[in-house]
Amino acid sequence: MSNSNTTKYRAKIVGSGSYVPPDILTNADLEAIVDTSDEWITTRTGIKERHIASREMSGVDMAVKASEAALENANWKPEDVEMVIVGTVTPDYRLPSNSCVLQDRMGMVNAGTMDIAAACAGYIHGQSIASAYIESGQLERILVIGVEKLSTITNYKDRGTCILFGDAAGAVALERTTDGSGVLSSFLKSDGRLGKLLWIPVGGTQSPYPEVMRNGGVQNGEDCLHMAGSEVFKQAVRQMGDAALKVIERSGLETKDVDMVVPHQANIRIIDALRKRLDLPEEKVYVNIDRFGNTSSASVPLALDEALRNKTIKEGDNVLMLAFGGGLTWGASLVRM
Ligand code: COA
Repeated sequence: MSNSNTTKYRAKIVGSGSYVPPDILTNADLEAIVDTSDEWITTRTGIKERHIASREMSGVDMAVKASEAALENANWKPEDVEMVIVGTVTPDYRLPSNSCVLQDRMGMVNAGTMDIAAACAGYIHGQSIASAYIESGQLERILVIGVEKLSTITNYKDRGTCILFGDAAGAVALERTTDGSGVLSSFLKSDGRLGKLLWIPVGGTQSPYPEVMRNGGVQNGEDCLHMAGSEVFKQAVRQMGDAALKVIERSGLETKDVDMVVPHQANIRIIDALRKRLDLPEEKVYVNIDRFGNTSSASVPLALDEALRNKTIKEGDNVLMLAFGGGLTWGASLVRM
């Protein structure tokens, strides 16, 4: 059956799963590493603790656990999955991709695979691509994962960034439906001109490791995330706000019709500014940044999974997802559950 004028296919969220590693890095732990304080971190970011994966645990190890939970929740077998899309900027290997490694580990033998390098907006990009495949009638079941081991690209000497990031994975199963629910609208945008507001200078083809090592090795944590925090902050508030209004309008809805917002958990002050701009009450915005920090592409599916499992989000709810990250990249999606 193809997607004819009479049959509107949409991508429905039929399952979700997430995983965070057991080890916790608290603000008190960070006070012992850099010149900071629990009070500064809490008031400036809203973060109290973040989970950090052990040396032995890779990104795909976390993605496997989140994906197993999502498949069980969706009542899918690994062979049912037709496409695996992984948002990540911290892959296990430069080659093969995380989605290929994950496909193998999970036995998702009938799936095509792709990795998306859109940083913290990676999951939203993956979900948007998945819904386009499903709406076009080409595929019926797609697994979208956001996973990051940010601790491997965090400079624990830089107090401006190391307080923010944590490790996690989130996975969402999207299935074709014709019942009127599913992804109603998505919007993606980037501004590559601002790429160096949030970047990793060393390790790519512009500055390959062998050359760096010949020239004395990595200096000043340049193989880790560098960020112009306050510039990124301003862009995040502006662009996620615009994207939110766009998908609400494209969905034929009004802001008052949004039942729950699941924003990227980057900074509580960014989330609060967005909430005020959209004129939404606190109870309509899902926040778990205090416990997990910024987990980049895992952030939205981790929060979504938590909100589904604790029934903050229910069947029929209109859920607005928002993300913003390095690139710069950003996006929004309105999903009827
Ligand atoms: N502890 C104590 N002081 C700190 C600190 C820390 N961990 N980090 C920075 N400071 C200091 C700075 O050195 C500066 O001191 P100065 O005024 O003496 O120079 C002061 O605090 C203010 O720094 P600033 O960077 O302007 O703070 P900020 O209010 O912008 O907060 C971030 C910094 C990183 C928390 C904030 O900019 C942010 O969250 N940005 C966006 C993050 C983000 O979304 N990133 C990823 C995109 S997904």
